[in-house]
Amino acid sequence: MAIERSLILIKPDGVKRQLTGQIISRIEAKGYVIAELKQVSASRELLEAHYEEHVGKPFYEPLVEFMLSGPLVAIVAEGHNVITGFRSLAGTTDPTTAAPGTIRGDLGRDWGLKVQQNLVHGSDSVESSNREIGIWFS
Ligand code: RTP
Ligand code: MG
Repeated sequence: MAIERSLILIKPDGVKRQLTGQIISRIEAKGYVIAELKQVSASRELLEAHYEEHVGKPFYEPLVEFMLSGPLVAIVAEGHNVITGFRSLAGTTDPTTAAPGTIRGDLGRDWGLKVQQNLVHGSDSVESSNREIGIWFS
């Protein structure tokens, strides 16, 4: 089976709350390899490409504004089944109900905002991962 790559983002809430180290530790402790890592302030153009599947949804503009609100950390993690494995480590989208033991369940909460601030992004398929790695690490 081929080694997969996943594009992981530590979103601006994770960087602001100084959780970058804890989140990277969880990825490494699981056994995945950090192949690329950089802290960046994303442009609107880059975020619009990254989130093109969400155009028109009610949370789209708040999501782009949130992702523009500060630096974030972009990571490429490698390993067999890393795409599914990282989504499992991250937990479900809503941090209020994300399972304890996951990044979102342990470290996230609802802040009463227009979009869920949930600390991390992880690619959801091989196709998305190829597309997203091309956007963030071209
Ligand atoms: P991600 O793409 O960040 O890994 O998260 P996901 O697959 O679990 O969630 P997705 O449906 O792709 O949504 C992207 C991000 O938009 C925000 N969101 N907020 N109702 C809401 O307030 C809402 N719905 C989505 C979250 O930040 C989510 O991760
Ligand atoms: Mg998603």
